[in-house]
Amino acid sequence: MPGTPLAPRRPWQGRRIVLGVTGGIAAYKSIQLARDLTRLGAEVDVVLTRSAQQFVAPLSFEGVTGRRTLTDLFSVEGAALHVRLGREADAVCVAPATADFIARAAQGRADDLICTTLLATRAPVILCPAMNDRMFAHPQVQHNLSHIRDHLGYGIAGPAEGPLAVGEGDGPGRMLEPHQITEAVGRALATDAAFRGRRVLVTAGPTHEPIDPVRYVGNRSSGRMGYAIAQAAWRRGAQVTLVSGPSSLEHPFGVDVVSVETAAAMHEAVASAIGGADVSVFAAAVADFRPDSVHAQKMKRSEGGTSPTLSLTANPDIALVTRDLRKEGSVCVGFALETRDLLKNAAKKLDQKGFHLLVANDATEDGAGFEVDTNRVTILKAGASPEALPLLSKHEVAEVVLDHVARLLSGE
Ligand code: CTP
Repeated sequence: MPGTPLAPRRPWQGRRIVLGVTGGIAAYKSIQLARDLTRLGAEVDVVLTRSAQQFVAPLSFEGVTGRRTLTDLFSVEGAALHVRLGREADAVCVAPATADFIARAAQGRADDLICTTLLATRAPVILCPAMNDRMFAHPQVQHNLSHIRDHLGYGIAGPAEGPLAVGEGDGPGRMLEPHQITEAVGRALATDAAFRGRRVLVTAGPTHEPIDPVRYVGNRSSGRMGYAIAQAAWRRGAQVTLVSGPSSLEHPFGVDVVSVETAAAMHEAVASAIGGADVSVFAAAVADFRPDSVHAQKMKRSEGGTSPTLSLTANPDIALVTRDLRKEGSVCVGFALETRDLLKNAAKKLDQKGFHLLVANDATEDGAGFEVDTNRVTILKAGASPEALPLLSKHEVAEVVLDHVARLLSGE
């Protein structure tokens, strides 16, 4: 892609995270996690238990965090190391959290550095269980986890279902992937009072309008912008539903995804969710037209002659036709993709579709539009002058849009 690369995103600059690593095979993934959290700007203090050191070495973590790995409750750093760690932490994450650690955390034990740090902190705590599926299903482990969730208020992230360590089969017990844990930690760090407990509905991706069983009318939308908004809204503390057209992107972590194919199906999903949504964001590139009729069998080359015609019919404008179903007082955000007269066309959509905010971009500009990680957008708001943003990553655009939404939700 032309132009200068964007500076790395460091949203957690100056935030302190304690990352506890306990003794399970998934500990190898925690090296990546420590690296990812550090690259997002955080100061990551890694605490290894004795059994974790059977799987990973302190030096591996020092290499990626640039900080000394902590292992000893009674170290030269002073007997009150746990108190300092606990007090200074903005979030504490334990990944992997083994069955033994979970039992000790549930009991409030203070026999190693990570358990004592948990007792000494008032920061949000996230535990990421990882163990064999039978161990995870054991009633005592489940009891400990319920106690931790309900009485200690810690977040439990995962486990995922999937292949376990060699020969252990396939079931719930696998630690989440580092990028998913990063999102869970992000939700602890980035909670925004304007979004906490709110319901957010996002549409994203293209729609595919079938011609026959193998062909469709569609567009080049990847879904990236809408997925970034859904993930960022979840990080801020919202309950998020993403109605997504066909997309190859991984589902955003923590978000309820309703997968649809056509504009008609997207319309139906939006109509059933929008009444409960405090915020709705229409980021999908809905196909405006669909073939009049769908051929039940694959159309043969011989059927269409030398210049076959496709007869199209208009799809519903989902944002417009669900306007009356919106929750009273909710905030509604639209997107506009233009190739000419950006501001004029965008202002018309803001008004006609009853959006509070409209994010406009010019598909012909470098770094904007479909299939790229960046976007150059202008934000329009009724009664305010348009705000042109520089070239940003879609993640950054999502944050700016949600900052605007937060202000609207707070009545500003
Ligand atoms: N939109 C929608 N349903 C449609 C078409 C668009 O909900 N059938 C929403 C989009 O998600 C976006 C906004 O309306 O938030 C504008 O979409 P855009 O494709 O830019 O505009 P259109 O209304 O389709 O107008 P045109 O194609 O004429 O530019």
